[in-house]
Amino acid sequence: MVNPSEVFKEALGLFPGGVNSPVRAMKHLPTPIIVKRAEGAYLYTIDGGRLIDYCMGFGPLILGHRHPAVLEAVREALNDGWLYGALTEREVELAKKITSNTKSIEMIRFVNTGTEAVMNAVRLARGFTGRKYIVKFEGNYHGAFDYVLVKAGSGAATWGVPTSAGILEEATKYTLVVPYNDAEALERVFREYGSEIALLLVEPIAGNYGLIIPDQVFIKATRELTERYGALLLFDEVITGFRVGLSGAQGMFNIKPDLTTLGKIIGGGFPIGAFGGRRDVMGMVTPQGPVYNAGTFNAHPISVAAGLATLRVIEGGGVYEVANGAAERVAKAIEDSASRNGFDVVVKQMASMFQFYFKRGDVRTPSDVRASDEKLYLAFHREALNRGVYFTPSQYEVNFTSAAHTRDIVEETIRVIEESFKALRANKPT
Ligand SMILES: Cc1ncc(COP(=O)(O)O)c(C=O)c1O
Repeated sequence: MVNPSEVFKEALGLFPGGVNSPVRAMKHLPTPIIVKRAEGAYLYTIDGGRLIDYCMGFGPLILGHRHPAVLEAVREALNDGWLYGALTEREVELAKKITSNTKSIEMIRFVNTGTEAVMNAVRLARGFTGRKYIVKFEGNYHGAFDYVLVKAGSGAATWGVPTSAGILEEATKYTLVVPYNDAEALERVFREYGSEIALLLVEPIAGNYGLIIPDQVFIKATRELTERYGALLLFDEVITGFRVGLSGAQGMFNIKPDLTTLGKIIGGGFPIGAFGGRRDVMGMVTPQGPVYNAGTFNAHPISVAAGLATLRVIEGGGVYEVANGAAERVAKAIEDSASRNGFDVVVKQMASMFQFYFKRGDVRTPSDVRASDEKLYLAFHREALNRGVYFTPSQYEVNFTSAAHTRDIVEETIRVIEESFKALRANKPT
């Protein structure tokens, strides 16, 4: 049997923090989970453990791990070759699936990650409008690049570096940050800078500071204000695209942004990103227009094949019913178990995403999330992990369910939740 702590010790000497992306480090565990393989809703660790996974690769795996249709599509694509540096039929098909489901996306460009997608959308918005400023919300995460790593969520929040070192003041001079879910603050910023704002970026359902659900007034204000001041509106749907429905959060809220960024699910678990939107705006992208984007691996054939297979399965029906039902039941179980065991816990759930916070009251802003008891979250996380359930390892991330989270798996999870709250009550951390 492999010893995880020895592997991690080696990793610590090789990778900063022992990992290749910060949330994988799991600051509350001496050794983070180290995975060997995965299947359905399960992760199998190198020391022989089996975990019910609610992290699901941080979002892409809405069908579960190693879905047979995706595996088959990837095998078929691999057989054909894996990199051409030329247009392929499959990418046209994937684009058609996206544009037919999301009406605001008239043209699209595939890149390799969500980070790249947003980075290009920012450049495009500035190129199109000729304006300098961008506006983002506190706690929203739009990838790991300079213009948007200001008061950011995700790993940046978990590790206490919401505004990264190494970023020039000059790079963020034109990034304005507004509190999430605060339509009045947004209006004030637009009143002051309106004519100079190129782009407003928003996570239409915020999934990088736990799960924060937008007020209707707030989300409507993003469209009204950008329209009024001639700025572009970007819905960053890297998480929510094809997760909360075939037309994403914009379909759910019936709002048509100018630009949308996608990633995660549209690559079926392989690296991908995309930015798309209004035809007149996208027409500015090279080679049609002067805003530069290029990439050796753009629309990578294997990612495209996996994404296409994933979207086909979703369109076939049944995925959202299972995944959303599982999230609802687990969320309810957390709420019930917490109160039975004397803990104040707020649970937020939407479609197949959920998160819980050890606090009283409600959670509707990043400061509400910060006000919750992170120590208790991590202690609960450890208890559940010891019993075979792997929730997302930070209160600043979100839990995901998939089509592989069957009734039996949810039942097992619910048992573990109850046992974990009991254990937590017995050994409350100080
Ligand atoms: C809303 C959002 N935008 C952008 C990104 C960056 O995507 P990637 O990690 O693929 O670069 C993420 C990643 O989690 C995200 O959640």
